[in-house]
Amino acid sequence: MPCLIHTPFLLTFVLLSHLQLCFSQDYIIGGGASDGGGDSLPEAEAPPEQNECNGIFLTYTFFSREKEFPHVKNASAQAWAFRAQATLLNAGTTELEGWKMYIGFQHREILVSASGAVLVDGSDFPADVGKGVILAGYTQTDLKTAIETAGDYNQMQMTIDITGTQFGVKKNGIPMPKTIGLENEGFKCPQPRRHRSKSYMHICCKKDPKFKEKPPKKTKFLPRQNGDLSLTYDVLQAYGNNYLAQVSIDNNNPLGRLDHWNLTWEWMRGEFISTMRGAYTHRTDSSDCIFGPQGQYYQDFDFSQVMNCEKNPIIADLPSDRANDSKVGKLPFCCKNGTILPSLMDQSKARSIFQLQVYKLPPDFNRTALYPPQKWKINGILNPNYKCGAPIRVEPTEFPDSTGLQAITTAIASWQVVCNITAPKPKQSRCCVSFSAYYNDSVIPCNTCACGCDEPQTCNPNSSPLLLPPEALLVPFDNRTIKAKAWAKIKHLPIPKKLPCPDNCGVSLNWHINSDYSSGWTARITLFNWEEYPFEDWFAAVQLDKAAKGYENVYSFNGTKLPLDMIKNTIFFQGLEGLNYLMGETNGTDPKFDPRVPGKQQSVISFTKKNMRNLNIREGDGFPSKVYFNGEECAIPPHIPLGNDAAHSLQVSSGPLTLLLTAVAFFIAIN
Ligand SMILES: *[C@@H]1O[C@H](CO)[C@@H](O)[C@H](O)[C@H]1NC(C)=O
Ligand SMILES: *[C@@H]1O[C@H](CO)[C@@H](O)[C@H](O)[C@H]1NC(C)=O
Ligand SMILES: *[C@@H]1O[C@H](CO)[C@@H](O)[C@H](O)[C@H]1NC(C)=O
Ligand SMILES: *[C@@H]1O[C@H](CO)[C@@H](O)[C@H](O)[C@H]1NC(C)=O
Ligand SMILES: *[C@@H]1O[C@H](CO)[C@@H](O)[C@H](O)[C@H]1NC(C)=O
Ligand SMILES: *[C@@H]1O[C@H](CO)[C@@H](O)[C@H](O)[C@H]1NC(C)=O
Ligand SMILES: *[C@@H]1O[C@H](CO)[C@@H](O)[C@H](O)[C@H]1NC(C)=O
Ligand SMILES: *[C@@H]1O[C@H](CO)[C@@H](O)[C@H](O)[C@H]1NC(C)=O
Ligand SMILES: *[C@@H]1O[C@H](CO)[C@@H](O)[C@H](O)[C@H]1NC(C)=O
Ligand SMILES: *[C@@H]1O[C@H](CO)[C@@H](O)[C@H](O)[C@H]1NC(C)=O
Repeated sequence: MPCLIHTPFLLTFVLLSHLQLCFSQDYIIGGGASDGGGDSLPEAEAPPEQNECNGIFLTYTFFSREKEFPHVKNASAQAWAFRAQATLLNAGTTELEGWKMYIGFQHREILVSASGAVLVDGSDFPADVGKGVILAGYTQTDLKTAIETAGDYNQMQMTIDITGTQFGVKKNGIPMPKTIGLENEGFKCPQPRRHRSKSYMHICCKKDPKFKEKPPKKTKFLPRQNGDLSLTYDVLQAYGNNYLAQVSIDNNNPLGRLDHWNLTWEWMRGEFISTMRGAYTHRTDSSDCIFGPQGQYYQDFDFSQVMNCEKNPIIADLPSDRANDSKVGKLPFCCKNGTILPSLMDQSKARSIFQLQVYKLPPDFNRTALYPPQKWKINGILNPNYKCGAPIRVEPTEFPDSTGLQAITTAIASWQVVCNITAPKPKQSRCCVSFSAYYNDSVIPCNTCACGCDEPQTCNPNSSPLLLPPEALLVPFDNRTIKAKAWAKIKHLPIPKKLPCPDNCGVSLNWHINSDYSSGWTARITLFNWEEYPFEDWFAAVQLDKAAKGYENVYSFNGTKLPLDMIKNTIFFQGLEGLNYLMGETNGTDPKFDPRVPGKQQSVISFTKKNMRNLNIREGDGFPSKVYFNGEECAIPPHIPLGNDAAHSLQVSSGPLTLLLTAVAFFIAIN
């Protein structure tokens, strides 16, 4: 909004209302605005720095703060509600597409609202932004130049009203961010200048002359981004008050995967979904519409047929038996019961598609008023964690003609959402690994609480797990205690009074060093499923930083070394055809006396040491640095089994025959 405030009234205005402040007092001194009423030109009001800026002019103005409940004595724990405003103005000569502003908050701020802006990392308000935040626009994403708009501030400038909470500010302190800046590529921002009024800072970010401009684009949209999962929101047909959108989900990471995915987002402008094809919403409920503004604008609408009116719908894939349903199915790549696999496993299952009919509310009753939903989130069971960015307008997607003509149809408008995999935090994994080796008869079990622990506990969530005899890996944790205690006695290990908690993981893997001889070595991998349900088309992957180069063969799985340009030093395993089920946990043969039995899959893997002189399996080179199950990164023990050297020399044998024999022997032993 252009700023038209009379200079003499500015201070009073700020003090009284805290409501509107375009620029700080710093130009009151330089002044220059005419006294003659509100229609002076905005340029006249601008601070001198803005007038000198040939680039993007950013400001941050702090308005006010108020003590929040609870009122506490400890000043550094006191919460304050604050209000501030950030602005971006394109004062340069080229349009800024997809603006992104960094605000370096530093007072443990929690952002509660930021008008017209979303958080680039896709998180919701209220958001913890004490370490800084990057904001982007969701309706006004681009800032045009004065040249192409004849100085229309509505299109050149973005004003973000900010409210939030901050902590521990001294009584008279003015809590400003450490810095502000522009995050867009190709710009250079100096240190922001803080005016002596202290509640206002500004900065002029200029084009970096060293930045290589990409060759001029043929169209006006941003190029598509790379990421682990790419979602595309294509508007295929647009009418006055509704449009047809298609959502495509593409798995681009060789270890990415989703099972029974749930996708959710937020409608920002009161939209609702009338019908869907290829997917469904978990709730089919139109009451939000009937009692909401939708009911007022669509008086004669039959809401009983509407699919979903929630602001944050939860969308899931249709099961495969609906694939040929002429009403909800019949879409290529639809209806896979929520499974998305790496393209290495099955190219046709690396993508999923569904369509939805979206109804809009005023003021968007216009064919061209199209806004994608924001705050996308997608998750599955026992899969990687995906973190999604904000939708970015991209070049319209092109679709080959479905009738076989050599024509191409183009979407009306397209947005892309990129989601990247984030490694699980400690104690928040969904699978875990135990380590063992032929030269040590104790197994190092999965980490305590590797997959989380409930409070309150009768067990110790922080102590290391008790070492186990190998056969204890085959029984549920609850039934291991006696074995573990007995083992500790034999091995003269201390038994703590409060025993360590279980790992609580649905799936665990054991990595066992099987043999180590002069020309090669073998490992044995075992997968345990402690869940009630089976895993179809499971896969596992191990990263061996030094030893992966020597991968030779895996005996009862289908193994591949991933190409180096995908993921480094990683070997990928899946079940052989027909054996690709990892069964769920079942009752023991005699449930009264036998503990429950996990679903299990196992194989021996052989490696060569050719041209790898420095490989030392026993010092740790034979233990993986990362292990994945169905794409999820599993928790790994903090140390490896140690051995005495006598055991080592006994095992040194050679030749593939011995290797094969060991492999067969182990396979028989476990079955
Ligand atoms: C005051 O609060 C801070 C932050 O909550 C805390 O770290 C500190 O220990 C508290 N000081 C006292 C004296 O309670
Ligand atoms: C759907 O139809 C296709 C081709 O007609 C057929 O190959 C497929 O098996 C059908 N799928 C189901 C689930 O009925
Ligand atoms: C689809 O997944 C559900 C679990 O979400 C399962 O109960 C059902 O059997 C699956 N259906 C098909 C056809 O695979
Ligand atoms: C192993 O997996 C690859 C990739 O999915 C597949 O092409 C190949 O046929 C599989 N081999 C066996 C023996 O199942
Ligand atoms: C629809 O929006 C476009 C661009 O925002 C505008 O030019 C046009 O006049 C609008 N049409 C109607 C009927 O409001
Ligand atoms: C998907 O959402 C439904 C409904 O909220 C829930 O029951 C289900 O557990 C969710 N599935 C996943 C994988 O989160
Ligand atoms: C995802 O990762 C790619 C690089 O692999 C990066 O360019 C992109 O910015 C990331 N996106 C998000 C939303 O983190
Ligand atoms: C497993 O055993 C429990 C009792 O221990 C019994 O209630 C349950 O029915 C059994 N399940 C099956 C599939 O046999
Ligand atoms: C295994 O542990 C479970 C849960 O504590 C218990 O109900 C069951 O009786 C135990 N089974 C055996 C054979 O000890
Ligand atoms: C086996 O490994 C564990 C864990 O590293 C270690 O504490 C123990 O001493 C080892 N046993 C022998 C016999 O070396």
